[in-house]
Amino acid sequence: MYDIAKVRADFPILSRTIYGKPLVYLDNAATTQKPLCVLDAMRDEYLNVNANVHRGIHWLSQQATDLHEAARETVRKFINARSTAEIVFTRGTTESLNLVASSFCDGFMQEGDEVIVSNVEHHSNIVPWQILAQRRGIVLKVIPINEDGMFDMNAFEKLITKRTKLVSVAHVSNVMGTINLSEK
Ligand SMILES: Cc1ncc(COP(=O)(O)O)c(C=O)c1O
Repeated sequence: MYDIAKVRADFPILSRTIYGKPLVYLDNAATTQKPLCVLDAMRDEYLNVNANVHRGIHWLSQQATDLHEAARETVRKFINARSTAEIVFTRGTTESLNLVASSFCDGFMQEGDEVIVSNVEHHSNIVPWQILAQRRGIVLKVIPINEDGMFDMNAFEKLITKRTKLVSVAHVSNVMGTINLSEK
């Protein structure tokens, strides 16, 4: 069983009292609270290492590079990726999506190619594709949702054509909590 008190204890900020009650924080899609082990690791990095990664031959830079690559390996294992080359660190979702949109388009898309999103996406998963539509002639298609707030899978299927190059949707809706595209 999931021991919620034990998990909360890892997050010092959750010991705060707000409106006379223990803090409950649910805005993790925007800013995620960090557990103590992360705060400790960040502090230790700034106190003892802090140097350029992959950009210096001096001792600290080499150590920073090793730590950075070790973090990439930790993430690779966690999400079961094939190679650490698949792990790219960014500052957040908006930056990640813009990076994917521009680099994927440059490499693999031509005018008239299609991208599919859903109509319950966050702004950060709409604007990069709208920019590609305006500037590069990419066609943006939108999956409607049904009365349960789930993707209309029949409509979705009909949107897919030979020109579809990418489908970009949130797995869990931040608006409704619905879980889309999960295996039954
Ligand atoms: C569901 C969802 N997607 C994307 C974003 C954008 O994330 P970021 O601030 O990391 O760019 C947010 C931010 O609130 C969000 O709630």
